[in-house]
Amino acid sequence: MSAVPDVLAPAGLGPITLRNRVIKAATFEGMTPDALVTDELIEYHRRPAAGGVGLTTVAYCAVAPEGRTERRQLWMRPEAVPGLRRLTEAVHAEGAAAAAQIGHAGPVADASSNGLPGLSAGRFFNPLGMRFTRAATAADIARVTRAHAEAARLAIEAGFDAVEIHFGHNYLASSFLSPLLNRRTDEYGGGLANRAKVALGIARAVREEAGDRIAVTAKLNMRDGVRGGLEVDDSLQVARWLQDEGLVDALELTAGSSLLNPMYLFRGDAPVPEFAANFKQPLNLGIRLFGKRFLRAYPYEDAFLLEHARRFRAELDLPLILLGGITTRATMDQAMAEGFEFVAMGRALLREPDLVARIAADPSTPSLCVHCNRCMPTIYTGTHCPLIPPR
Ligand SMILES: Cc1cc2nc3c(=O)[nH]c(=O)nc-3n(C[C@H](O)[C@H](O)[C@H](O)COP(=O)(O)O)c2cc1C
Repeated sequence: MSAVPDVLAPAGLGPITLRNRVIKAATFEGMTPDALVTDELIEYHRRPAAGGVGLTTVAYCAVAPEGRTERRQLWMRPEAVPGLRRLTEAVHAEGAAAAAQIGHAGPVADASSNGLPGLSAGRFFNPLGMRFTRAATAADIARVTRAHAEAARLAIEAGFDAVEIHFGHNYLASSFLSPLLNRRTDEYGGGLANRAKVALGIARAVREEAGDRIAVTAKLNMRDGVRGGLEVDDSLQVARWLQDEGLVDALELTAGSSLLNPMYLFRGDAPVPEFAANFKQPLNLGIRLFGKRFLRAYPYEDAFLLEHARRFRAELDLPLILLGGITTRATMDQAMAEGFEFVAMGRALLREPDLVARIAADPSTPSLCVHCNRCMPTIYTGTHCPLIPPR
């Protein structure tokens, strides 16, 4: 048996080396009013970089305008590159690396905000955008696949060290993986090999573009947390295909559906009134009345995705990133002891961007995040932890 790695020591991720094994997970920033980088966005990533993470992930860089969750979201185009370059330079100056999360929101996109119809595996009503999505044609799939490769190319031009492809949360590729959302009868629907074609096609295109110039990772749902959705056995097979073709350097394991069961991603309290406040009537009232059903709460526990992730660790060889309720040195050490190569942290770093440095100084440092999830509705106005007093 090989020795358990030190989570705070340098580690290779594909062709790059990180100063440690702690990754800032993508937490959509809501800081790009013109769909371009702002100083606020740069500062949002500079802080965890200065605070000790090995890699910070810029969420969420859409690969096409209709793939944005809403119209102010950054999408990858030549115009976005100079701002992104300033961002990667600021992160590098703090000694950390930067990843761009690239993907297409598919049925999660707000079509009314984007002014463009949403795309998904099948025609589907998105209650937040109050619009039907359009079933993606083979030509749409080919275009979106190419757009992922182009986004990777632009990320390299902007100085990113890695791209993370979004295969989770019932975004486009994830909606194709879901037997519930994908009822197609063509070559992209039916058995798993067909449902996985979009994800695998995207991963191949990105890998081909990236080569070994940057690391390529993917964020994959282990399960959707929705009856009839993707389950662990199928997800494991997709992970195996990604591994066997050498398409990714590591997999970040996630769960949940931004469309059908968002709290499954997070666990903890459901911030229904704060979420409703971001929507006009009649949606506001609808969310207040039925929000407890849409935002169904799940009890929080540290390392809440570990049980499912263990199956992936047992059956796969490729490097895995454990995510979900990693908040202390003890949970990080547990992840390492169980064979995960990296850990990713979301909310705890919103609460304390310097948490990793503080844990390095004192391994008994507790996290101040109380998983109230009130950071979640702040994505509409500039993501932050509402428990931090304004500066
Ligand atoms: C405010 C907020 C925004 C998020 N935005 C994204 C996103 O854009 N893309 C993504 O893949 N996950 C997103 N997530 C999910 C996190 O990456 C992570 O999967 C989740 O918070 C669980 O990790 P944690 O327990 O360390 O917070 C978001 C989470 C939060 C709290």
